[in-house]
Amino acid sequence: MTRARYQFPKDFLWGTATASHQVEGGNTNNDWWHWEQQADRILHGHRSNEACGWWQGKWTEDLDRAQETYQNSHRLSIEWSRIEPHPAVWDETALERYRGMLQGMLDRGIEPMVTLVHFSHPQWFIEKGGWLLDQSVELFERYVRKSVVALGDLVKKWVTINEPNVYIYSGFVEGAFPPGLTDLRKVPIVTRNLLKAHAVAYEAIHEILPEAQVGLAHHYRSFVPADSGNILDRTVTSFRHRAFNNVFPEALRTGKMKMLHWRESLPEIVGTQDFFGLNYYTRETVDVDISKPGQILRTGDYPEGADVSPTGFIANVPEGFWEALQWAHDDDLPIYITENGVEDTDDHIRSRFLAGHIRELWRAANFNWKIKGYYHWTLVDNFEWERGWTQRFGLWGLDPKTQARKKRPTADFYAEICKMNGLSSEVVAQYAPEILDQIFPPRRSDDLGA
Ligand code: GAL
Repeated sequence: MTRARYQFPKDFLWGTATASHQVEGGNTNNDWWHWEQQADRILHGHRSNEACGWWQGKWTEDLDRAQETYQNSHRLSIEWSRIEPHPAVWDETALERYRGMLQGMLDRGIEPMVTLVHFSHPQWFIEKGGWLLDQSVELFERYVRKSVVALGDLVKKWVTINEPNVYIYSGFVEGAFPPGLTDLRKVPIVTRNLLKAHAVAYEAIHEILPEAQVGLAHHYRSFVPADSGNILDRTVTSFRHRAFNNVFPEALRTGKMKMLHWRESLPEIVGTQDFFGLNYYTRETVDVDISKPGQILRTGDYPEGADVSPTGFIANVPEGFWEALQWAHDDDLPIYITENGVEDTDDHIRSRFLAGHIRELWRAANFNWKIKGYYHWTLVDNFEWERGWTQRFGLWGLDPKTQARKKRPTADFYAEICKMNGLSSEVVAQYAPEILDQIFPPRRSDDLGA
């Protein structure tokens, strides 16, 4: 067997990522809670309920788990609807609770990265019109300022908004997220307001905390034509790539928002990222069926023979991650992988998924690209939005009824990676032997059994 190690740069951050609504429980004052009460919105009528019990204090034991498995950073989000339960009415006890959590991380040697909006919003904000409203930008800024003043001494790294492209696609095109619209005309308006909100938050955070590092968590999905000889497949692939992946980074780079027929100049948003947050999960193939033109935007299929997760949600394609890293590198900013992971209740594919993706990440770091950290999604199984509890992304399993946690083998694998700040052939041989030769190709002498 080849004995080797892919070593990561000094001071690399290794952690997991979570989001307030998915772990806290009892977030009764936000749009998702309201959404969950409506029939047929969430698979099997599941509800977030107590989620992972973080608001009731379970974060302490979960952070112990993170610390014991050598994680040195954690990405979490704070819940706007708790901090500002009514317009301009602040809940200081909620902010105190977050201070406790953040201090708890620091005490464990875990550096926090805080996301300000991760899909959930105060219900009052949504009732006013949410991100369709021009005023949304100032409402967001007010919340950001309050939170950053209250928590800023404990947090250096801030993510303004999580995956605006996923939020817009799911909430305004597909209708699977609140507000549940399927109205393409709304898309440019929401896009513009989210871009402006990000930029305004960037400036506000820097005004309060000049040393802060501020970014946005971009979601990259790799699209490939089902048949590369088919011009329709190729055209739609390139359209989807531009429409889904490129609008936000391009606008932040050039100050020009290009969305469908909409063109808008937003010079004030240029240069408002100190780092590039990258979320990557999967690649999909684009197979155009001309008899169904309305389905051009529908989710596609996976490459032939793909290693697919149990509910068919994610295909394990590390090459797509490599493509995502090259794409993110175009901006020449420090890069944090703000999410990457797979749903896998029985932990059958998670270890090889992790090994394959960490190997691609190392390639990028080895080219001296500014790869600074990796946050696995996620620490403990949590409430997966419109898919409820049907998908299990945790390094630890969770029984939401009893709140019992159970460690999955990949948690130990990830612990080894975090501990050695790298990936060695020995640990791959132990946890993902089926892909050892792919990750550490044998030398000729190994082939000969020497
Ligand atoms: C991301 C999202 C996370 C998590 C993950 C896995 O798009 O930011 O909150 O749900 O997908 O489904």
